[in-house]
Amino acid sequence: MNPSPPFPPAHAFPRDFVWGVATSAFQIEGGAAEDGKGPSIWDAFCRVPGAIADASSGDVACDHYHRWAADLDLVKSLGVDAYRFSVSWPRVQPDGRGEWNAKGLDFYDRLVDGLVSRGIQPYLTLNHWDLPEALQARGGWAARDTVHRFVDYARHVARRLGDRVATITTHNEPWVIATLGHEHGNFAPGIKSRATAMQVSHHLMLSHGLALQALRAQGCKSRLGIVLNLSPIRAATDDADDIAQARLEDGRSVRWYMDPLFNGAYPPDVLEHLGRDAPRVEAGDLETLRTPMDFLGLNYYTRSVVSASGAWDIKASGKPLTDMGWEVYPEGLTELLLRLHRDWRLPPLYVKENGAAFQDSLVDGRVHDIERTDYIARHIAAVAEALRQGVPMAGYMVWSLLDNFEWASGYEKRFGIVHVDYATQRRTLKDSALWYRDFLQAQKAARRVPASSSNEFAGS
Ligand code: FCB
Repeated sequence: MNPSPPFPPAHAFPRDFVWGVATSAFQIEGGAAEDGKGPSIWDAFCRVPGAIADASSGDVACDHYHRWAADLDLVKSLGVDAYRFSVSWPRVQPDGRGEWNAKGLDFYDRLVDGLVSRGIQPYLTLNHWDLPEALQARGGWAARDTVHRFVDYARHVARRLGDRVATITTHNEPWVIATLGHEHGNFAPGIKSRATAMQVSHHLMLSHGLALQALRAQGCKSRLGIVLNLSPIRAATDDADDIAQARLEDGRSVRWYMDPLFNGAYPPDVLEHLGRDAPRVEAGDLETLRTPMDFLGLNYYTRSVVSASGAWDIKASGKPLTDMGWEVYPEGLTELLLRLHRDWRLPPLYVKENGAAFQDSLVDGRVHDIERTDYIARHIAAVAEALRQGVPMAGYMVWSLLDNFEWASGYEKRFGIVHVDYATQRRTLKDSALWYRDFLQAQKAARRVPASSSNEFAGS
């Protein structure tokens, strides 16, 4: 068997650094039509022929809706501080407006209580992509009215759960919702229009700002923020066209979100590029977008290398690729964190997702997923390096606790540190989970020792 990767230096992390694992409702819950849950845009998208690689759906997924208590025991056994999950909007409000579904709310109430009683901080996300289908029928995120429906939903969930959840994230990865969902059309709701995508991105950001204001106005004590998917974007060559393309991609995926959130303005070069596809922005919107946040979350998986001709072949980098075909590039995480710290005035930063899909084999009750373990270890070390260089990092979460429904890839891609046998719903801790558990134990032991008495971390 391959040796386990060494633990990143324990004293690199502040004592209150939060370690966690992450999931999302649609990807694990199942119970798609149970106890009054309404359909989401992902339930609808899964029925579109060819939309999902293995023609699967979220109907059963990891059956977490029924197995949540045992799953929380698993989370507890890892020794994490926090668990990131999302609330399914159509489970708690089937039509996205009007009536609330008591049974749906009770489910999250039990989940949150279950976390608190196990000593795990609940990190709640309001929108991890599963918009009620009934709202899509009324225009979805392209309609400004959805912004107000989201604020109502946020208020209601916060009133019900906000006394016990540590943080509330408004949206997970607005770029994915806007661009993959409404421009490329390979994610729900499957629309292909750049103008629509840009309007959607503006409405997502606007609803984020308004929700933050509404939750603070009602006295919500949870820390509030958003989670973005960000990558360093590199030009494939020194060619001027490639450099211009990389600058534009950076504008569309990084600055398009960071600039309004922190400076209250969309980047002028991107607006110019979009021309008539730029979103309609009403008076006061930009001020709302920059509503101060208590944290910024980011999800990091890989870097992006772009060329004007689109001809760059990722294999040319010579780096290992994951089962998604994504380059393993941990140094990009340090690079990205340093750049964010340099270019914007940041609140505490969390890596809210990081992990990798690989083809696993379960043999004699073990999954020797050395590549995933190595991936996680190297990314944690990349966070340590960012901390050493002064970036205000507050936490790190592995994506994902469980193998689960990986959107358009269905169940073919496994991101879990816990293996799921979908036929039996049996869970098995992979070696990566055991490594993470042991690493966290070492972290806790180090927290008990004054940093000065350790020679493990010579940085700073
Ligand atoms: C992110 C999503 C998450 C998961 C990972 C692999 O974009 O937020 O739900 O699918 O990718």
